[in-house]
Amino acid sequence: MKWTRKDLITIEELSKGEINLILDTAEPFKEILRRNIKKVPPLRGRTVLNLFYEPSTRTAASFSIAAKRLSAEIMSISTSTSSVKKGETLLDTARNLEAMRVDMVVMRHSCEGAPKFLAERINASVINAGDGNHEHPTQCLLDLSTLKENVKTFNGLKVLIIGDIRHSRVARSNIWGLTKLGAKVSVCAPPTLIPQNIDVLPVDVYYHFDEAIKDKDVIYLLRIQRERMKKGLFPSTREYMNLFSMDRSRLKQAKKDVIIMHPGPINRGVELDGDVADSENSVILNQVTNGVAVRMAVLYLLNGGNKNEKIIE
Ligand code: CP
Repeated sequence: MKWTRKDLITIEELSKGEINLILDTAEPFKEILRRNIKKVPPLRGRTVLNLFYEPSTRTAASFSIAAKRLSAEIMSISTSTSSVKKGETLLDTARNLEAMRVDMVVMRHSCEGAPKFLAERINASVINAGDGNHEHPTQCLLDLSTLKENVKTFNGLKVLIIGDIRHSRVARSNIWGLTKLGAKVSVCAPPTLIPQNIDVLPVDVYYHFDEAIKDKDVIYLLRIQRERMKKGLFPSTREYMNLFSMDRSRLKQAKKDVIIMHPGPINRGVELDGDVADSENSVILNQVTNGVAVRMAVLYLLNGGNKNEKIIE
């Protein structure tokens, strides 16, 4: 199979074959990243722009490292240091940057659809690095890549996503990605943190963690996104923690080899106890490590790379 898209905007629109193509392409990059000399030439002469209108640690750093490992030039612009502060529109910003001949734009924005809007108007490839409550495709791909290392098959894999589902682009991308590969996905949250249109997504819904936990192979924790809430959507953090936090006692109720995941940033002690985050069940730092290889694969494929090409001797 050959990659044919100009952009990567959502997981929803990808086929199972396209998802597997990205995951397979990431595998040799994982090997390259374990070497002493981690740099390879496929994107030599290309320029990647990180355009972040919302804060980020992992995604921005991971795309920067991925682009550098592929020998691309990378430049980063954030809202706080750009002319957006002076009233410039998103489209004018992008057109000006494209006039400088950037080849790829990695974009994070608080508005759903902003990366698609840009992708339809500029020639450079656009990668969605998270748009509002909508999607975070490369987070899903690095999660799938991490799970692939830890499970025999996605077919019938029982995954529980718990926390602020309503405001989570990670949940939405993972629901699409996991179900396309054959997993059975459930979500769990207080009713106010479940999206109103949950019935259009292929998931089971739980409102009680203790009911949902028992037979799951993977438990994926999400933080509460207070920055996206206009008003309080649950009575208190203490009550939320009592009912929905993953701690040692809840870990004992789960399958012995349950896999614990989190996209970061973690609010330790709120949705996830520090002990569990650092336990042998946790693959949270493996997710971060795999983010670089997966993002290398995405940049490589969007640049016209072929999975079967020998990248380096
Ligand atoms: N997981 C994730 O998107 O983290 P950042 O917000 O730090 O990029």
